[in-house]
Amino acid sequence: MQYKLAVIPGDGIGPEVMEQAKRTLDSIGTRFGHSFTYETLLAGGCAIDKTGGCLPAETVTACKEADTVLLGAIGGWKWDTLPGNERPEQALLGLRKELKLFANIRPAILFEELIDACPLRPEIIAGGLDIVVVRELTGGIYFGEKGYKDTPLGRAAYDVEQYAEEEVRRIARVAFDMAMKRNKQVTSVDKANVLESSRLWRKIVIEVAAEYPEVTLNHLYIDNATMQLVAAPRQFDVILTGNMFGDILSDEASMITGSIGMLPSASLTAGNFGLYEPVHGSAPDIAGQDKANPMAMILSVAMMLRYTFGLTAEADAVEMAVRQVLQKGYRTPDLYRGEDGLTLVGTREVGRLIAEEI
Ligand code: IPM
Ligand code: MN
Repeated sequence: MQYKLAVIPGDGIGPEVMEQAKRTLDSIGTRFGHSFTYETLLAGGCAIDKTGGCLPAETVTACKEADTVLLGAIGGWKWDTLPGNERPEQALLGLRKELKLFANIRPAILFEELIDACPLRPEIIAGGLDIVVVRELTGGIYFGEKGYKDTPLGRAAYDVEQYAEEEVRRIARVAFDMAMKRNKQVTSVDKANVLESSRLWRKIVIEVAAEYPEVTLNHLYIDNATMQLVAAPRQFDVILTGNMFGDILSDEASMITGSIGMLPSASLTAGNFGLYEPVHGSAPDIAGQDKANPMAMILSVAMMLRYTFGLTAEADAVEMAVRQVLQKGYRTPDLYRGEDGLTLVGTREVGRLIAEEI
């Protein structure tokens, strides 16, 4: 089969990890007889430097015409002083909205090989960890009305958290469908003790749950959820939550897996179209030094093969190769603290090793 990918390397470590993702795909292509073509596109800080805007119209058009989108990372110190609506991160938000990617899937899996890199005590994670955060991605406070106004206390700024029932319903269905393929348990996270938007959220989630009698639903307030996630993470299967809470919870979940450098993500439409990106950011402090862990990007490729292309054996092969490289003791700096028996390697070498395993 032939697949046409829109590739957005972005800023910071984005281009480095993207190189290794393409290397992975090329080896999958060779082994399974597929051909992947890449159209490299600008978005983020690099697009600001080259075109004046963070999300050129051609990029959006090319993404819409591609079979799927791979994204590295966006943002960096260089553009931190720009006004809010001109910041590189706007590119990411723009892409999510333009491409209607309302469902963000962030699996947090603690590989056995990385148990020592997990900051939680061994007894808390005994038996492993396999959680999926299902985060609503095109609504909530990220996209609500925002602005400035004058008040007796001086200038005030505001961002509105708003959820319409259909927005809640469609993301809830994604979470319940996912739970049906897993341990049939959904935890919906909100702040229904305070926020009206959360009360509607909860009501709709309960309605959707009625369509899935086999799935157990429970609700947690966000403050309690952040605590439970480190106190007893094994209680979770699928975490369903809004845009802002999902942003926070997925970073927290990533640390349990040893490093944010391990977490892939898929952002999906109602069809099977998707944008795949690592959960980590552009890490400008280590950019260009061959230090970044490309595994999150490479595992995002596995998610792409699985979700958008339905290539299960190919996705399994990528995930297996990542595990084998870990099993053989190779670690990028984020996962290495000088342990005996482990070998410190760089971005390119990890990519090469994974490709070789495939
Ligand atoms: C993420 C990131 C983005 C978000 C930023 C860069 C806009 O933190 O994908 O989690 O907040 O969604
Ligand atoms: Mn985030």
